[in-house]
Amino acid sequence: MRATSLLRLLLICFYLLLVHTFGASGVGDKLEKGQNLTDGDTLVSAGGSFTLGFFSPGASTKRYLGIWFSVSNGTAVCWVANRDQPLVDKSGMLVLNDLGSLVLLDGSRRTVWSSDFSAGASAVVAQLLVSGSLVVHNGSSDASLWQSFDHPSDTLLPDMKLGKNRWSGAEWQLTSWRSADDPAPGDYRRTLESKGLPELVVWRGNVKTYRTGPWNGLYFNGVPEVSAYAGKYPLRATTSPWEVTYGYTAAPGAPLTRVVVNHTGKAERWEWDASSWAWTRIFQGPRDPCDEYGRCGPFGLCDPEAASSGFCGCVDGFSIPAATTLSAQAVKGTTCRRHAALDCAGGTTTDGFVVVRGVKLPDTQNASVDMGVTLEECRARCFANCSCLAYAAADIRGGGDGSGCVMWTDAIVDLRLVAMGQNLYLRLSKSELDDHKKFLVLLVSIPLASIVIIILVVFAIWWRRKRTIIGAIPQSHAMAVPLVSLAIIKDVTGNFCESNMIGQGGFSIVYKGQLPEGRTIAVKRLKQSVLTTKGKKDFAREVEVMAGLRHGSLVRLLAYCNESKERILIYEYMQNKSLNVHIFNNQYSLLVETQMLSQVATRTELSRAMSTFVPH
Ligand SMILES: *[C@@H]1O[C@H](CO)[C@@H](O)[C@H](O)[C@H]1NC(C)=O
Ligand SMILES: *[C@@H]1O[C@H](CO)[C@@H](O)[C@H](O)[C@H]1NC(C)=O
Ligand SMILES: *[C@@H]1O[C@H](CO)[C@@H](O)[C@H](O)[C@H]1NC(C)=O
Ligand SMILES: *[C@@H]1O[C@H](CO)[C@@H](O)[C@H](O)[C@H]1NC(C)=O
Ligand SMILES: *[C@@H]1O[C@H](CO)[C@@H](O)[C@H](O)[C@H]1NC(C)=O
Ligand SMILES: *[C@@H]1O[C@H](CO)[C@@H](O)[C@H](O)[C@H]1NC(C)=O
Repeated sequence: MRATSLLRLLLICFYLLLVHTFGASGVGDKLEKGQNLTDGDTLVSAGGSFTLGFFSPGASTKRYLGIWFSVSNGTAVCWVANRDQPLVDKSGMLVLNDLGSLVLLDGSRRTVWSSDFSAGASAVVAQLLVSGSLVVHNGSSDASLWQSFDHPSDTLLPDMKLGKNRWSGAEWQLTSWRSADDPAPGDYRRTLESKGLPELVVWRGNVKTYRTGPWNGLYFNGVPEVSAYAGKYPLRATTSPWEVTYGYTAAPGAPLTRVVVNHTGKAERWEWDASSWAWTRIFQGPRDPCDEYGRCGPFGLCDPEAASSGFCGCVDGFSIPAATTLSAQAVKGTTCRRHAALDCAGGTTTDGFVVVRGVKLPDTQNASVDMGVTLEECRARCFANCSCLAYAAADIRGGGDGSGCVMWTDAIVDLRLVAMGQNLYLRLSKSELDDHKKFLVLLVSIPLASIVIIILVVFAIWWRRKRTIIGAIPQSHAMAVPLVSLAIIKDVTGNFCESNMIGQGGFSIVYKGQLPEGRTIAVKRLKQSVLTTKGKKDFAREVEVMAGLRHGSLVRLLAYCNESKERILIYEYMQNKSLNVHIFNNQYSLLVETQMLSQVATRTELSRAMSTFVPH
């Protein structure tokens, strides 16, 4: 008896507490039936992150009803109701009418926008939720009858979705603003493609301009750098009989974030930096010329570090007809041709597969996908079907070579090299494979020779150092790599001027720099997004390893910089030589003892420091 009354007392306390907290935080986030919101009034979500109200974007004087991040007061707008029905003055009013519809009225009380939903006579309330969604619900259940998250503007917030509801056919997509001052639907859309493997695509009208690459179980295959913040903002793609969707969440305590398709067609992720009280862009795509959709044509392979050759090449077994390789313009117009026809008919074939390593997988729009098989079975299936031109693993979560199967039966389109990319297995005729094997032998023997050379070099260094010590001449700094101040690097690269950019990968951007006496250097600046603890360790290792290598066929590390948040490597500049020789994630286990010079303070000192160990 006593126990039950105690329980009742506890329940009453709990109820009062609930009423109190909800009552208190509920003030200002709800619009009851029959109530209205006029220009100047706002609803603020519990906790205060989002505000709903009237605003004028940029220089415009027109008024729009929208939801924005409270911290940026009228900018960072994430949803707009009357996108192409602006109000001309401040007499607008939002009403939750008797039919349970949200309607936006102008000064003469005409409807300029409505929620396109009516709850009939039942009790309803509109509420701006903590997530930033404006919902209409029946007041006693959280289940929404209508919500703004189902009608995205240009912004994807945590817990929103892009993609398709397979039952209702409803589709969620982002549509850019027309300009910075005009929220009307603009030229660009961002969708989640549901044919083949799910992938995010930016469209201009009906033309694809940029793909992220297919979902690989963890992230979109062409943008591995997003895995740097997947801990803060876990990504999620759902493929089920009901839906094919993509969205992300925010881990507790993670900064505010938003993904926007900008009016110039850029997909961007922004993060709120409370210490500088500003939004920071932590991702932007397209990133480089190779992200331009289909740039190199069918069976082309785009290499972002091959600026000198116009970025484009062909996959193995294909080439561009010689007469048209004259100019980059000509290359753009012509497509890669197969050298030797495939030999496959009536169930027999002599063809085989060649591996194209480290790529963003091609467009999967017309590919067939089976998640339930191993890569081995996938190979067998592709081999047995003459219309299969290439295959790849569809899911990399299990590690190794991955599992699942995606098979291409028409042209391979929009293929590019990317850091941490996947393998594509391409069908070629036997004769091409034989050629390829010869090439492989060469490919194996070159690294072998390099290893021997490296051992010799290390030995020589060791021997020389030993001799210097014996000779008691303090010359060991000849092996050291100078530490250069950021100011100098900014000076020689014109403050990382875009016109000095000569290449870009997933992890770094390479600039050309000019020293006072006319010598050219290559400046490799690591992207902030990769500067995790591991990224910094890799950087230290690259400095360490590269400092120890001195060989004619290798690009030499001349100096480095690790001032504040920057990690920069300075290499000698080699015309027509890929800077990809030392990709950031290299797996050297070789450790060479290095000694760092003291800080170099001027450009002339930099030149001098370099000439001590790089003879002209
Ligand atoms: C708007 O609400 C106010 C009270 O909150 C009320 O006086 C006014 O009549 C309402 N206007 C309309 C058009 O419903
Ligand atoms: C926020 O916007 C309102 C109205 O647009 C303005 O009155 C206020 O000064 C702004 N606050 C800040 C901090 O910019
Ligand atoms: C609100 O909706 C829930 C479930 O959708 C339902 O159980 C409840 O009876 C509804 N309440 C009212 C007052 O209509
Ligand atoms: C859109 O992207 C372009 C190109 O990166 C950038 O210059 C511009 O500031 C962006 N606009 C907005 C409104 O974010
Ligand atoms: C897929 O097939 C359609 C229809 O044949 C074609 O128009 C389109 O270009 C193909 N897409 C790709 C990526 O090959
Ligand atoms: C070969 O693959 C294509 C495309 O996936 C499919 O339509 C066709 O039925 C397959 N042929 C055989 C013999 O399995």
